[in-house]
Amino acid sequence: IRHAVAPVVAILTLLGCSPTDGAVAPTSPAPAGSVGAPGIGDRDFPLDGNGGYDVTHYGLALGYTPATKRLDGVTTIRARALQRLSRFNLDLSGLQVSEVSVDGTRATYSRQGDELTVVPAAVLASGARFTVRVAYGGEPRPITDSGNLGTYGFIPTPDGAFVTAEPNGAKTWFPANDHPADKAAFDFEITVPRGLTALANGELTGEPTTADGRTTFRWRESHPMATYLATATLGKFTLRRGETAGGVPNVAAVDPAYHGSLTKLYTVSGEVTDHWSKVFGRYPFSSTGGVVDDFSAGYALETQTKPMYGGFAPDESIIAHELAHQWFGNSVSIRRWQDLWLNEGFATYAEWLWSEHRGRTTADAHFAALRARPASDAFWTYPPGRARPDDLFNDAVYKRGAMTLHALREEIGDQTFFALLREWVERHKYGNATTEQFVTLAEQRSGRQLDALFDAWLFQPERPA
Ligand code: ARG
Ligand code: ZN
Repeated sequence: IRHAVAPVVAILTLLGCSPTDGAVAPTSPAPAGSVGAPGIGDRDFPLDGNGGYDVTHYGLALGYTPATKRLDGVTTIRARALQRLSRFNLDLSGLQVSEVSVDGTRATYSRQGDELTVVPAAVLASGARFTVRVAYGGEPRPITDSGNLGTYGFIPTPDGAFVTAEPNGAKTWFPANDHPADKAAFDFEITVPRGLTALANGELTGEPTTADGRTTFRWRESHPMATYLATATLGKFTLRRGETAGGVPNVAAVDPAYHGSLTKLYTVSGEVTDHWSKVFGRYPFSSTGGVVDDFSAGYALETQTKPMYGGFAPDESIIAHELAHQWFGNSVSIRRWQDLWLNEGFATYAEWLWSEHRGRTTADAHFAALRARPASDAFWTYPPGRARPDDLFNDAVYKRGAMTLHALREEIGDQTFFALLREWVERHKYGNATTEQFVTLAEQRSGRQLDALFDAWLFQPERPA
């Protein structure tokens, strides 16, 4: 969610393709039908992700030095071939690749734009499990010029890095199948100068170890995670670790500049996690928490298990939003970016539920205030059911998305509505889903024909009647 509204000029950047470093070019032409596609098939982001394989695990071994801004990494990817593969792609932006191997044997590779093409020594059979190891390094560069997305990816800060990658900035710090349609488990081993802290998703697998003036932090996210939700935010941090009242491990961390926010971040994150566990169903991950860094991103991101707040002290509302994403977006993930309202509309609706829960503005009043915007207001021209790649995080995706849920709730009643939310979360837990699947489930559970309602709220460029 955006913290402060800053004017942004939407610029559609055409992807330039140019060969980059001195990598080995693939030698023999690939047999037909065995080339993994350079994109996973999202029509709005044609080169995001890749075809032909499914990643099951990322092992990221990273070293970072703030003084030189140098990142050195070895990424080990375990995957399964979904077709015969004589070559396949990974997404990687900038950085130099020094070696690629597949199943322990050196592979050739080439780079063009943000595509890293890997040619294994032996063709991979359809269904084969394989391991790709990529050694790389350099100065990571965040993405800064893509539509209204602001700055995202691996963002160097004076004392470390702020790492928030939605929608496609994972490729700025590790080679990836960088699209939410391919989720995987993650292990992180992050080495930083002694005195700094590296924060990643999931839980520490042991206490940090220090040698030669550098400390290594090992984190594990064992539940499937979309690449944009991975983080390795690092720098000077004060931590508070414990458990929520409901027994979920809780890790809060703040940059020294936000020292005064640590208690509130920790406490509210715990309360919200426990409350959503009652409303949406059991918390899907093994820990909760949050991180406040002093980089003014102007937004927060729901990085799995540990939302990142970029340069502001989060209030209850935004904590409620980011933690609602753990169910809506992180456990149940979108398959294509156009369905982003399934993340943002739901998390925004959760803000309204939280405010009502705390005895402030009711969901109904939030809805009414927006509904009162004149029909001529530009707000109504953006149909939230089709998020646009050049304006992905438009306010309508958030607020009109939330209004869609409120209109649905009024139509089908509270009991059916909340049972539907829980069933949605349970049915697609740790997986991916689409708007069509939500509409179908809503119709099944309510026993009503809801096309007109969803069409008016999600797909028409005007204020619903
Ligand atoms: N998903 C985030 C939220 O609503 C917003 C991320 C914005 N990302 C960006 N690159 N501007 O909480
Ligand atoms: Zn959000």
